[in-house]
Amino acid sequence: MFKIKSIPSGAYSTEDFNKAFHEATLVYNEIIKSNEYQDSLGWLDPQKWASDFSIANLLNLTNNIKEEDAVLVLIGVGGSNNGARAAIHALKCKRQVIYAGNNLSADYYNKLFESLSGKSVYINVIAKNFETLEPGLSFRLFRHFLKERYGKDYNKRVYVTGTPGSQLHDLCKRHQFTFLTFPEDIGGRFSVLSDVGLFPMAFAGIDIRAMVDGAKDMKTELSDPDKNKSVLYAATRHLLYQKNYAIEMLASFEPRLEFFSKWWIQLFAESEGKENKGLYPVASTYSEDLHSIGQYVQDGRKIIFETFIHVENPESNLHHFSDCISDGFDYLNGKSLTQINEAAYEATIKAHHEEGIPEVIISLPKIDAYHLGQLFFFFETSVYLSGRLLKINPFDQPGVENYKKYMFHNLGK
Ligand code: PA5
Repeated sequence: MFKIKSIPSGAYSTEDFNKAFHEATLVYNEIIKSNEYQDSLGWLDPQKWASDFSIANLLNLTNNIKEEDAVLVLIGVGGSNNGARAAIHALKCKRQVIYAGNNLSADYYNKLFESLSGKSVYINVIAKNFETLEPGLSFRLFRHFLKERYGKDYNKRVYVTGTPGSQLHDLCKRHQFTFLTFPEDIGGRFSVLSDVGLFPMAFAGIDIRAMVDGAKDMKTELSDPDKNKSVLYAATRHLLYQKNYAIEMLASFEPRLEFFSKWWIQLFAESEGKENKGLYPVASTYSEDLHSIGQYVQDGRKIIFETFIHVENPESNLHHFSDCISDGFDYLNGKSLTQINEAAYEATIKAHHEEGIPEVIISLPKIDAYHLGQLFFFFETSVYLSGRLLKINPFDQPGVENYKKYMFHNLGK
């Protein structure tokens, strides 16, 4: 299990924190029993949509794709692709997954189609509500591509993850595409531990069983009031929000977590940013970003706090050797990359702490499927609680509809 701690850096007192923790505990106890958002809480029981049976089905489907040069094009946007992409980018994978349906750029697609030359292409179209323009358009482009390349049997290469009974489900039946379930009671950004996220991960060769086990173990841990990390995390961020902090930055010294951060940004921005409320979630990958936004964090307006994901045991290490060329870096002799990265991490914590920047530190034993499963479930539970502390509905996203109205008008829908 990972550990979590909050460092106030002078931003709040122990008394403030105890009060916030007490309030968060009360709200947690309430929401965990409440029926209020029943139709959006399918993710709260990882066993429901990631049962042994569904995992076996996904592994069976992906194991049946035998070609060594097989690639999967994941067509989806927002919650429909961020979870799988987070895990695939973070973990060692045996097969390649490529992303489409998440932008409208002709340059992007032309380059993508070129990159598919000589590969055996499969697609997974993921859409809860099959009205979203980006995946809808991308599905058209790929149907055309697959038909041209593979002829009438192209449909054997199409996997669709959609809501049972939807228009997309009908389309699948008519064209004999393989259909997977986008659970009705899970919104996109909470869907990573269902067919939505698990099918592309299984294709890539990720141990999805271990990932779901991580989520289940986290659920068990959160049910113990003395160990509830979500309460600690939500209480800290809510307290800082009340103290006028506006931005939470998720920071890590592991570039493998870049797309995990993107998943986290969507989860928190779309769940909390409503009714003129919410912290603005951003992410940084240190040490690179210490050379850019690090300046603002250290010296700019005091509206930012940081949540670090600190990886205690990186999967690999690298040693370097002095080659007797006098380059001014001899102070590094005998230190491995992991030691140097750790020194940069500790220095950053100290410097930001001295400047009065509050910090939350998540100490992750390692980056593997099991621990990612824990993190996914932890952050989902935390945002549910945190959203309820703000008294907003964490499961809708009314704000994303406004631009669509004008875009559909421009396109003559
Ligand atoms: O979290 C959400 O609900 C959204 O980000 C959706 O996942 C995103 O808008 C894509 O929706 P759909 O799967 O219906 O195309």
